[in-house]
Amino acid sequence: MLHACNFPIFAAKLILLTKKYMNRIILNETSYFGAGCRSVIAVEAARRGFKKAFFVTDKDLIKFGVAAEITKVLESANIPYELYSDVKANPTIANVQNGVAAFKESGADFIIALGGGSSIDTAKGIGIVVNNPEFADIKSLEGVADTKNKAVPTFALPTTAGTAAEVTINYVIIDEDAKKKMVCVDPNDIPSVAIVDPELMYSMPKGLTAATGMDALTHAIESYITPGAWAMSDMFEIKAIEMIAQNLKAAVDNGKDTVAREAMSQAQYIAGMGFSNVGLGIVHSMAHPLGAFYDTPHGVANALLLPYVMEYNAESPAAPKYKDIAKAMGVNVDGMTCEEGVKAAVEAVKALSISINIPQKLNEIGVKEEDIPALAVAAFNDVCTGGNPRPTSIEDIEKIYRKAF
Ligand SMILES: NC(=O)c1ccc[n+]([C@@H]2O[C@H](COP(=O)([O-])OP(=O)(O)OC[C@H]3O[C@@H](n4cnc5c(N)ncnc54)[C@H](O)[C@@H]3O)[C@@H](O)[C@H]2O)c1
Ligand SMILES: [Fe+2]
Repeated sequence: MLHACNFPIFAAKLILLTKKYMNRIILNETSYFGAGCRSVIAVEAARRGFKKAFFVTDKDLIKFGVAAEITKVLESANIPYELYSDVKANPTIANVQNGVAAFKESGADFIIALGGGSSIDTAKGIGIVVNNPEFADIKSLEGVADTKNKAVPTFALPTTAGTAAEVTINYVIIDEDAKKKMVCVDPNDIPSVAIVDPELMYSMPKGLTAATGMDALTHAIESYITPGAWAMSDMFEIKAIEMIAQNLKAAVDNGKDTVAREAMSQAQYIAGMGFSNVGLGIVHSMAHPLGAFYDTPHGVANALLLPYVMEYNAESPAAPKYKDIAKAMGVNVDGMTCEEGVKAAVEAVKALSISINIPQKLNEIGVKEEDIPALAVAAFNDVCTGGNPRPTSIEDIEKIYRKAF
């Protein structure tokens, strides 16, 4: 068989033939970046005539004093708010449904979502169901739901540098009965205002900084090699990879490194601008069941699986793009063949992952070998599988899980 590296022109033609010749880009309305920018909540709320906030966050963010940074702004601007913190990491259908009921009782007219992907995704689900009550079961929102109305206007403030949920059209909710992470894709859920304030990320512990940063790197790499990638998404993803490669380790080593924290806060958002519009691949498909079965943190699951899936996807029309990834990761790729570029990209990702103490094997994080067949079926059926550059199968996914085990 011809190696994937040997037919880039064929690959480009294949991509053109297999996708509709149209690109779409959806981004949130207004975004702010920079240390202290959370103060704009008051200005934006006044400008939009909002009277009362429904403030969605989680209990750890209250404990670590991050939520207080937002309530201070609301109190000094005399904006009343109702706090909702029934959000667990890897949020559930009940987290959204209880939030819908609490929103309706609150008399609020906008949502403030503060947190990692879990709080922001819960807020997105609440905002969608309040304005589209026919989806109150939540399960019917999985995949691309036909909602008619925009979500309740939402200001989203990320506290992790990972998911980019503040700029994406996705949210991810666990259906506990079906042991399934449901990826919901809906342009109506996009927050109106994204407020990316790196000061809200300073309290992240090392492990969370590392895992969420690797989630952002996974977004960038998966959507750089997905068949739907195009000039604009490539521009976002290469920049994001460069910024993550230059700053993630520094942010992990010293959480008070303001330059690294700021760069990571922006890099994850930039990666989100791309992946939200072109999709991901089977790193995410394989990470989601780990969240549903074992509550594995999303970033840890992605970080661990990323190099294994990159090796698998090197046998695809995307292989020539690996050299760009290696270059963005800081490798000197001058004179490298395509095969050498593939190897260099995988090694650079592994080296970064090891340098920030990401576990390297699934058996280290509580995955049970006997669950692998069921995990593979769930991963194959995940919404992200369609974006993988190499057509895959349950058997192939099972092999990758076993290799990573
Ligand atoms: N919407 C999207 O586009 C998208 C993309 C990728 C992932 N996700 C989803 O997002 C979720 C994961 O989000 P996440 O990785 O950001 O983590 P998270 O929101 O699950 O948070 C993990 C833990 O870290 C704590 N935490 C967050 N910020 C902190 C801070 N600054 N200081 C101290 N503790 C802090 C939280 O309180 C929580 O206990 C998963 O459910 C995943 O599937 C969504
Ligand atoms: Fe992710």
